[in-house]
Amino acid sequence: GAPVEVDLSKLEAGQQITVEWRGKPVWVLKRTPEMIAQLDKHDGFLTDPQSSSSKQPDYVKGPGRSISPEVFVVEGVCTHLGCSPTLKREVGAASDMGNDWPGGYYCPCHNSRFDLSARVFKGSPAPTNMTVPPHRFASATHLVIG
Ligand code: FES
Repeated sequence: GAPVEVDLSKLEAGQQITVEWRGKPVWVLKRTPEMIAQLDKHDGFLTDPQSSSSKQPDYVKGPGRSISPEVFVVEGVCTHLGCSPTLKREVGAASDMGNDWPGGYYCPCHNSRFDLSARVFKGSPAPTNMTVPPHRFASATHLVIG
């Protein structure tokens, strides 16, 4: 499939848009500073915190699984049986987690929970983090997926 171009200039902090690439929904989330700060607080609760068993390009690194911490790009497909999870924006602290969950992506089909890098929480049926597709920045506000 052809690459998809996304204009980021109108995306507000905390906003997510969905584009279609190769017949799949791809989410582009503009993270707030609070969302970014949350990402390195809950590694111990995650199935694959380093994404070593999950699909992502070599050039995305760290807990953000992104080129730039502010812009997160991911295929919006649950790695369990392929439902499309929903974004829940509430942000909490790892120490508050217990059985709770600090917010991120939630798959209602069989109750898989992910963080704001689409990394899956232990106890969810999804075996791996969601897939980050190939992407690049043609400029600061011009994202190319594929
Ligand atoms: Fe998402 Fe089963 S398809 S939890």
